[in-house]
Amino acid sequence: MTLVTPALTCFQTRRTQLLAWMQSLGGGIAIVPTAVERTRNRDNHYSYRHDSDFYYLSGFAEAQAWLVLIAGDTNQSILFCEGKNPEVEIWNGVRWGPEAAAAHFGFDLAHDLLDLHTRIPELLVGHRNLFSTLSRSAQPDLLKQLQDWLTKAQTSVRDTRALPQQWLDLSEVLGEMRLIKDATELATMRAAAAISAQGHVRAMQTARPGLHEYALEAELLYHFRKQGAQSVAYDSIVAAGANACVLHHRAGNAIMRDGDLVLIDAGCELDGYASDITRTFPANGRFSGPQRALYEIVLAAQQGAQAKTSPAHHWNAGHEAAVQILTQGLLDEGLLKGTLAEALESGAYRRFYMHRTGHWLGMDVHDVGGYRSPPASDQERPWRELQPGMVLTIEPGLYVRPADDLAEKFWNIGIRIEDDAIVTATGCELITRGVPVAADEIEALMRAGQT
Ligand code: GLY
Ligand code: MN
Repeated sequence: MTLVTPALTCFQTRRTQLLAWMQSLGGGIAIVPTAVERTRNRDNHYSYRHDSDFYYLSGFAEAQAWLVLIAGDTNQSILFCEGKNPEVEIWNGVRWGPEAAAAHFGFDLAHDLLDLHTRIPELLVGHRNLFSTLSRSAQPDLLKQLQDWLTKAQTSVRDTRALPQQWLDLSEVLGEMRLIKDATELATMRAAAAISAQGHVRAMQTARPGLHEYALEAELLYHFRKQGAQSVAYDSIVAAGANACVLHHRAGNAIMRDGDLVLIDAGCELDGYASDITRTFPANGRFSGPQRALYEIVLAAQQGAQAKTSPAHHWNAGHEAAVQILTQGLLDEGLLKGTLAEALESGAYRRFYMHRTGHWLGMDVHDVGGYRSPPASDQERPWRELQPGMVLTIEPGLYVRPADDLAEKFWNIGIRIEDDAIVTATGCELITRGVPVAADEIEALMRAGQT
């Protein structure tokens, strides 16, 4: 995948920040792999996607590479990447090669990947701490690989105290760094969001009874790629009728019928950054009464959560607001019994709303960063306060599966509304509103598409 690299200094700045953090822990060596290429079948590979942590620090999108950072008397950043190979490049495309990569991406050194297993054991000598993305690596054998290199290094030293004594995980510190997006990242995310929103518009305007779910998936893909997005950020969910009550239903063979709602949860990935939008609309262009009633509840819940998405609130405030509004709506429509306090206390609403109201968004669609104040592993910590530059989704929903104790008019209605929000100094900016969300506006858009 060829990426448009933003100003390369941002990757160097991140390496410098991480090296400073390593120095604060006594220094050491960090080893960060990118993702491996994976076989799909026989000679055929899955479309390659770099590892997000690796790319965040390097800007380097080729497969097989490793980044080594040394926080010692002087700091050093070293790339290992595939060497130039004219024969292979005829088949698979031009590679940077170590020399050009070092110059272009600002590494102090770069080596051919062929030297990885001799050079890394040498580089390990003299460092007390070994840092890596231990709990979040896209390299399946990372721990074994690190151990193998240490074992090899032991043969070259008299005193094994010359080798790292401590293994430290980079996942949390990188999660903290990635949680606050810089201006370049936000610009890319706005662009990704705009492409995705227009893809949803195209799908809505194409939709009509008799089409298959996969036909709308094709419209989305066509638009994403035509606008320059390299990929989807995740497999597109296109769910007609009862399928909308399956939260991660992949676009399949189902036919949209007159009277069905269609739920599309889809977003493109642009230059390494995800977007994530869900819209729900009637296949025939007109919400029925029960569909509209539940739709308005979900939309109100989204507005309630949006109002709590600001630096004045913590991460969970939006979810709490959405749950209150959804639960009151379920009571008003007779889908729940009792009082609001009882339904909240018992968790009865979870029968219809079983997921959370959002997640961090960034290089990964479910992006990294703790939802509680660090350390993330401690579940007793308070919810994290929102800060400008954080990006999250706001995505309440309601899903009514058929059951004898529920009014039949609501059966098989599945609704989710999802937008992407950048936290600002005073509130949040929804960056995905290039596709309408109000029921009347959706109906008007679909009418316009049918003419
Ligand atoms: N859009 C897919 C998800 O958030 O799980
Ligand atoms: Mn989402």
